[in-house]
Amino acid sequence: MQHSMLVAMTGTPGTGKTAVCERLREEGYHIVNLNELAFESNTVVGVDPERDVDIVDVDALREKVRGLENDVIFLDGHFSHLMDVDLSIVLRCNPNELKKRLEAKNWNEKKVKENVEAEAVDVVTIESVESVEETYEVDTTRRTVDQTVETVLRIVEGQRDDHRVGQIDWSEVILDWY
Ligand SMILES: Nc1ncnc2c1ncn2[C@@H]1O[C@H](COP(=O)(O)OP(=O)(O)OP(=O)(O)O)[C@@H](O)[C@H]1O
Ligand SMILES: [Mg+2]
Repeated sequence: MQHSMLVAMTGTPGTGKTAVCERLREEGYHIVNLNELAFESNTVVGVDPERDVDIVDVDALREKVRGLENDVIFLDGHFSHLMDVDLSIVLRCNPNELKKRLEAKNWNEKKVKENVEAEAVDVVTIESVESVEETYEVDTTRRTVDQTVETVLRIVEGQRDDHRVGQIDWSEVILDWY
């Protein structure tokens, strides 16, 4: 059986993809962590020493994803929107709050800065819109994990209007930095 819906749970590191997916798994949904799948399927082809990130063969990984079988599958990963998904949900977070979340993970200053800046200028959303027509955003800043899960499930079920791309704008936050 082919899967009926493949959903990318994407967003800048620290926005809450894994936290949300863990809760979805508890509710019985099938979750695939894209980083784990990349390692298990030998599609990690190297490490970028400069940025300390794994380099993934995205085309090879896409083939692996195509072979997954289930009803609704959530793909957890910051490049899950590069897979052939039906729907992409970009988790967003106010950059100032994201900074706190990443510092709480003990990430070094350089990686925190890199990701906070990426969030501030909508990197993942822009990339997602380029490859997935059905891209929606959820602001996690003032939501709990449970509320984010509820919102994500509503989007999956088709209540999408409030989450169209273009409503989240961190430019005011950036202006405050200068
Ligand atoms: N509304 C929310 N939705 C999701 N996570 C939240 C929310 N509020 C706070 N958090 C917290 O933010 C943190 C997000 O970390 P998490 O590991 O889930 O991020 P991630 O997007 O999976 O990052 P990575 O790309 O590094 O795997 C968690 O500690 C989570 O509990
Ligand atoms: Mg994660």
